[in-house]
Amino acid sequence: MLSVMALASCAGKGAAPKAIVVYYSQLNSTKAVAEQIATKMDIPIVSIEPVVPYDDDFNATIQRGQKEMAGELPEIKPLNVKLEDYDVIFLGYPIWFGTYATPMMTFLKNANLAGKKIVPFCSFGSGGLNTSVNDLKKALPDSEILPGYGVRAARLDAIPSEVDYFLKAGGFIKGDFTPYADFSAQAPATDEQKALFHAAVDSYGMIRAEAETVGVRDIPAGKEYLFTAREAQGGTIQVYVIDPTSGDPVFTQVLR
Ligand SMILES: Cc1cc2nc3c(=O)[nH]c(=O)nc-3n(C[C@H](O)[C@H](O)[C@H](O)COP(=O)(O)O)c2cc1C
Repeated sequence: MLSVMALASCAGKGAAPKAIVVYYSQLNSTKAVAEQIATKMDIPIVSIEPVVPYDDDFNATIQRGQKEMAGELPEIKPLNVKLEDYDVIFLGYPIWFGTYATPMMTFLKNANLAGKKIVPFCSFGSGGLNTSVNDLKKALPDSEILPGYGVRAARLDAIPSEVDYFLKAGGFIKGDFTPYADFSAQAPATDEQKALFHAAVDSYGMIRAEAETVGVRDIPAGKEYLFTAREAQGGTIQVYVIDPTSGDPVFTQVLR
């Protein structure tokens, strides 16, 4: 008994849960997050590859993606890894049509991830981690889906510091970090805050909305705002905006 225990404690690393990064990335934004996680955690990384690669043309991918979403899921190459050897899977994907991209759908249909902890991460144009996580929970009812991380493709320079915070806050790596404060309660946005909202979203082109209420908090990079805004076509959205101490305001995520 003693020798077994001694072995277990000697093994140290071997006794810890084994983790791996599994991701799909068409245009390398998700890959950048995947590589950052694998490097910081010092764990293996493997990518999902469609048998027929996607066209570089955005509209062609949209058309193919729409067909696939309707049921013709793409074939993917076999992963050269034994997932049964791992307890924790960092699962990464681009957001397509509000959820995880279709090659990830194929992967999830075929893989047995029962009993595993899944840590989702994604990159997106404007938003989608929350919807994709709800879909993951439905697709993997026997796995534990842990809090995830998402980043806009337009903010790839934020990945190193945000992934560092994410991994520390999730207890995956050791190190000091200061937990973010809560946002202040939503209150009517002032004219100055409405102008800040416009400065952050207008150049994106796909968000036409007016800020109505806002909550604020201090973060290491400056101030972060959570706006509730009314879209031109009617609905309400929530938009996260960072106003950095130096540089222009930028939105980080839209929740619909
Ligand atoms: C077919 C397709 C559908 C997309 N749908 C969405 C979407 O619904 N919401 C969004 O925020 N971004 C959407 N995007 C943008 C991608 O999520 C974004 O460019 C992502 O960073 C790409 O990741 P990758 O570089 O790892 O392929 C879409 C892109 C494609 C090609």
